[in-house]
Order: sequence, then structure tokens, then C-alpha cells
Amino acid sequence: MFEVELVLPLKKKKKHAEMGFYFSTETWTLLVAFITLAVVYVCWPFATFKKMGVPGPTPIPFLGTMLAYKKGFTVFDENCFKKYGKTWGIFDGRQPVLCITDPAMIKTVLIKECYSLFTNRRNFRLNGELYDAVSIAEDDQWRRIRSVLSPSFTSGRLKEMFSIMKHHSANLLGSMKKKADKDEPLEMKEFFGPYSMDVVTSTAFSVDIDSLNNPSDPFVTNIKKMLKFDLFNPVFLIIGLSDHEILSQAMIFLFAGYETSSSSLSFLAYNLAMNPHIMKRLQEEVDSTFPNKGPVEYQALMEMEYLDGVINESLRLYPIAPRLERVAKATVEINGLVIPKDMVVMVPTWTLHRDPDLWPEPEENCIGMRFALVMMRLALVEILQRYSFSVCKETEIPLEMDIQGLLMPKRPIQLKLEARS
Ligand code: HEM
Repeated sequence: MFEVELVLPLKKKKKHAEMGFYFSTETWTLLVAFITLAVVYVCWPFATFKKMGVPGPTPIPFLGTMLAYKKGFTVFDENCFKKYGKTWGIFDGRQPVLCITDPAMIKTVLIKECYSLFTNRRNFRLNGELYDAVSIAEDDQWRRIRSVLSPSFTSGRLKEMFSIMKHHSANLLGSMKKKADKDEPLEMKEFFGPYSMDVVTSTAFSVDIDSLNNPSDPFVTNIKKMLKFDLFNPVFLIIGLSDHEILSQAMIFLFAGYETSSSSLSFLAYNLAMNPHIMKRLQEEVDSTFPNKGPVEYQALMEMEYLDGVINESLRLYPIAPRLERVAKATVEINGLVIPKDMVVMVPTWTLHRDPDLWPEPEENCIGMRFALVMMRLALVEILQRYSFSVCKETEIPLEMDIQGLLMPKRPIQLKLEARS
């Protein structure tokens, strides 16, 4: 065995030497020139931030600064903020990404110049059939689709959807009660996941999948039913779009609405269990708005101020999208900084929401936010009318965050529900 190991490398060396002789000087020159050009091409943009006077971590060829994502976006963004201050530059491969946390600058990018210069997100060209979904479409197509969809989220339309939501929140309470009665800990996502799924599919698809009572993975079990939905009868008003466009919007509402709302509700429950005095004050508001556990009404629900504060604070601490991005359509100067065309401008929300200097938070551009807020307020108020969240021995404190894309806990949030007297 030893013999084989010793002999093989010797043979290999000889072969390589022979091959080296075989290459002509021209081939060697071309090879060196090719490698040099490739390295120059890959490293060319690395001077971008130096020229702009923006600090940031040193990139390496091909990977840029992406090695630092090992511990997740949020940790990397926080470290950069601590080290470089309000503005810094990083490289996703050779793509320069300007990171901004100054509110005036964020307002210019996300709001003031949204239609003119910063309309689009980065396009990874991995969208397949969803190319015409509102979150992916660009420029005029995005503007047209967004303006057709926006009327679906007015208070009038949300009020119409409220009765559908109430049907599903009643199911939610019913299934939570079964576990609470047995004094078992509840995995929050197991309840809020199907609730969000049912609310979004019944409103966006007009399909009642009742995933709360079909406990196996609702995504997998029901996707077939969803794809058979009636194009002409969704509760959302989507006249003026092609059939393909309607299907894409319905799918994107499901992707954008399911995970976000159910994770946000789970974080909310956790925050309440961890802060019983806040929950008690919220329950006082719940009881005075709807005395004697009375039925929850849309108008009064939307006027609950303390509830509004509690939800906003939980979304600040746990922003489901820990980064927002836009691409500069042309070179532009903002607050004295010249941002070149095609640069990605990124807002690290997780870091921003933890900057003690910064209030208020910037507005976010989520088309479904008002819808999500109705659905979350309803579920929360109905639960708090009857129960209090409490931490139990199964609750992980503090939560360890998953380091991939959307913000979520590494392990499921488990809490107990205690019946109120
Ligand atoms: C608590 C729940 C939710 C959170 C935290 C959330 C968060 C967000 C964020 C941060 C963005 C990106 C904003 C930007 O880039 O400026 C976004 C976009 C979007 N959200 Fe939500 N979202 C939630 C619920 C929903 C729901 C229920 C729907 C659908 C019914 C929805 C549909 C969308 C769509 C379509 C976009 C892209 C809009 C566009 O590009 O014009 N979201 N959301």
C-alpha cells in the first residue's frame, strides 16, 4: 500500500513537467494575460467606494465581502455599522452595494425618488414564471400593476375582507383552545402559519383551504387546490391585468403574506409573554374596546392605539425583511454623495431599527401592510380576550435567530396560553 502512495505522486509530477514543456511561449503568454485580465475584471469595481470616499471591509477577488455572511446578514451589518458609521460599502461578488442608515438619505431613496431613480430592486434573474409579479416587475410595468392592485388595500376593501378573516380567526381560537385546555406548550408557528395561509388564500384566491384543520404542511398539501383558483373571482380587485399577471400577483401575495404575517405574529406573542406588564395594559385596552369578550368590530379594532404601538414595536425589534434594496437607474447625488448608475443601495433594517439615535423609522413599501395589520390585530385581540401568553420551560430565551434570508427564529417559538378568569 505504501508503495502505491509513493509511486503515484512521482508519476504525476513527471507528467506535469512534460505538459509544461509542451506549452509554447505564446500559450503561456496568453494564459498569463487571460488570468491577469480575469483578475482585473473581477477586481475593477473594488475601487468604487474608495473613489466615493465611503469606508467598508476589504473585498477579495470573486467573493467580494461575501465571506462575512457566514454568520448571517444581521451580524455582518451590525458589525459594519459599529466599525464604519452611518454609511459603508460592501461587495456581493463584484457588485458594489452601498449601505445607508441616514433617515434623510433613506427617505430620498425609498420615497422621494422611488418613481424616478430608485424604482427597482436588484434582479437576480431567478424569477422564472413570476417575472410579472409586482415585487419583481420593473419601471412602467411595476407602476401599472401596483396601481391596479393598490385599490384592493383601501379600508373599504379591507372591511369587506374582514368577515372572511373573522371566520379564520374563530378557527384559530378553536384550535389554540384544544392545546391550552390540556396545558400543553404551543408552537406559535403551527397556529399562526395556517391562520395566515387561510386568510391570504381565501382573500387572494377565493379558495377556502382550511389548513388549520389540515395540520400537515399546508403549503404542500394545498398548492394544487390553489393553482385551480378562479381567475375571475378573487376577492382582490384585479381588473386590467392579463391572466398570467393575475396568477403571478396571487402567488406573490401568498409568498409575501404567509411567512411574514405568521412569523410577525409569533414574534409578537413571544414579546408579550416576555413583557407581561405590556400584555396586561393591552388586555385592558382590549377589554374596554370590546366589553365582555364581545365580537371584534373592524372600526374599533383599527382605532386601538396601544395595540398599534405594540405591533409597531414588535415589527421594529423583529423586522421580517432584515434588508431592503433598490438599484440606482442613473448617477445621482444625494446629501453630497454621488451614487453611480447601477449601484445597489441597501437599507439594513435590522441594524437601523436598533440604532439608538434614529427615530422615527422609515416608512416601508409593503403593499400588504394594512391587510397584514388587520389580520394580526384581529387574531391578537381575540386571543387576548380569552388568554394570556406565558413563557414555559420549553421557551427559548433569548431567541437565537436563523441566519438565512427572512428573519426567523432558529427553533420554533413555544409558549403557553393561560385562560383568563
Ligand atoms: C407582518 C406582515 C408583513 C411584513 C412584515 C411585510 C414586509 C414587507 C417588506 C419589508 C417589503 C419590502 C418593502 C421595500 O422593499 O421597500 C414588502 C413588500 C411587499 N409585500 Fe409585504 N409584509 C407583510 C405582509 C404582506 C402581506 C399580507 C402581503 C399580501 C397580501 C404582502 C405583499 C407584499 C408585496 C406584493 C410586496 C412588494 C411590493 C412592491 O414591490 O410594489 N406583504 N413587505
